[in-house]
Amino acid sequence: MRILVTGGAGFIGSQYVRTLLTGGYPGYAGSRVTVLDKLTYSGNRANLDPVAADPALTFVEGDICDAALVDELMPGHDAVVHFAAETHVDRSIRGASEFVTTNVLGTQTLLDAALRAGVGRFLHVSTDEVYGSIAEGSWTEDWPLAPNSPYAAAKAGSDLLALAYHRTHKLDVVVTRCSNNYGPYQFPEKVIPLFVTNLLDGGTVPLYGDGGNIRDWLHVADHCVGIQLALEKGRSGEVYHIGGGAELTNRELTEELLRATGRDWSAVRMVEDRKGHDRRYSLSIDKISDELGYAPAVGFAEGIAATVAWYRDNRSWWEPLKAKAAL
Ligand SMILES: NC(=O)c1ccc[n+]([C@@H]2O[C@H](COP(=O)([O-])OP(=O)(O)OC[C@H]3O[C@@H](n4cnc5c(N)ncnc54)[C@H](O)[C@@H]3O)[C@@H](O)[C@H]2O)c1
Repeated sequence: MRILVTGGAGFIGSQYVRTLLTGGYPGYAGSRVTVLDKLTYSGNRANLDPVAADPALTFVEGDICDAALVDELMPGHDAVVHFAAETHVDRSIRGASEFVTTNVLGTQTLLDAALRAGVGRFLHVSTDEVYGSIAEGSWTEDWPLAPNSPYAAAKAGSDLLALAYHRTHKLDVVVTRCSNNYGPYQFPEKVIPLFVTNLLDGGTVPLYGDGGNIRDWLHVADHCVGIQLALEKGRSGEVYHIGGGAELTNRELTEELLRATGRDWSAVRMVEDRKGHDRRYSLSIDKISDELGYAPAVGFAEGIAATVAWYRDNRSWWEPLKAKAAL
């Protein structure tokens, strides 16, 4: 198989590529991978260091909005796994333009090129944030989209475009919508690596609002297992949820991180709530579990302990990133 992975130098994309190239998805052993990544502030070649010498990996620095480049790269690939996006909600509140450009126009550029080149499957990686917020119960895949942040709205646009290319052009599209991820190599502006690295440094952490917002935390390895199942066995034109980690309030999450780093509540600053902050996300994962046999394997306590250990042991990875981004 030849797989084009967009955003493969980011947090989740690099986990996927490292796992694929080290034999973690047996059905795709021996695959060749092209990574297309613009190396924005959150993209990092170092995330692919463990597989950088593998001749099966080709790295292309470029923009998914560059139609000529995308048209040149696409032919010969059997599948596209599309991770590339602007991803940080707070940045989208400060300025939404790059979110619309990359997430919507970039996805449309890829879909058009995939159609022209006749690639096989196009796996679009989406998010639970497209649904907005849910007070109780869990979303199923047919729930109406009601995104609140510019990030979520731009992701919803790209998600719907991908599905439209299936219905209109019969492109073999599968969409996955996942809950919040954590794990190694996550850019330290996101809450878990930000809190962990601040706490390891003896600093403080900012907790939004009353700390009662609820997220389902899934280890990045489990997200990528779900993506691979959807890529290999998902039905064309379908949406699959990936989640089933641990639902926690931000206050409970903070408590876990304080415990894991040996700190206490004196390290926590309560700060003004994020604008339009979704209260609760919750995905039903019945469909992917029943149809594709998905089940998360990494327990939250075990996953958080391993993640904290990784940030403790890999200061040379995150210290320059935090310094550059002034986090
Ligand atoms: N992090 C999560 O919790 C989560 C949850 C659900 C879904 N997702 C989705 O998963 C995908 C990956 O998220 P992540 O957390 O790894 O993000 P990330 O910010 O760590 O990585 C994004 C990658 O995309 C690249 N990129 C950005 N704009 C580009 C462009 N115009 N052309 C080419 N490359 C570009 C960046 O350089 C970076 O390598 C995104 O589509 C995101 O919406 C993330």
